[in-house]
Amino acid sequence: MICIVYISSAKLGLTHSEINNIVEDSRINNEKHGLTGLLLFNSGNFMQLLEGEELIVDTLYTKIEKDRRHRDVKLLLKEPITHRNFSNWTMGYKNIENLREVKPELHNLFLTEDLNFSIYQNNPYRALKFLETFKRII
Ligand SMILES: Cc1cc2nc3c(=O)[nH]c(=O)nc-3n(C[C@H](O)[C@H](O)[C@H](O)COP(=O)(O)O)c2cc1C
Repeated sequence: MICIVYISSAKLGLTHSEINNIVEDSRINNEKHGLTGLLLFNSGNFMQLLEGEELIVDTLYTKIEKDRRHRDVKLLLKEPITHRNFSNWTMGYKNIENLREVKPELHNLFLTEDLNFSIYQNNPYRALKFLETFKRII
């Protein structure tokens, strides 16, 4: 199995209902394909972790890269895993736009003022740590 993490920017004007459609469709598809993971949304940016069999993850990532609902898809991490980290989730979803209010300590620890996931480009393991904290608070 492998695990990947990527970041991307939502297309201009992407609505919450469009995001809900992505999440609902993903849950059905991922369940079918033995994929698990987590999708975060913040200030127009996505961060997603996906884990499963390599060929299946790679095939989905190729589709995701081409999806017109977002752009600037950048892979942060791709590595082999022996066990799942997010085994309970076919696709966990968290909109963290209000993280500053709800969990200020988490916000201050992981997000910069401009709330941009791009700070993780040079530090993928920090991204992984950030994603893992949501296992406890979703
Ligand atoms: C931010 C984002 C995350 C996505 N995550 C998933 C996912 O976890 N699983 C999934 O099946 N599709 C996901 N998709 C949708 C895929 O890009 C694609 O539309 C979907 O797999 C259906 O492709 P198909 O109709 O060619 O099979 C995501 C799309 C976006 C924009």
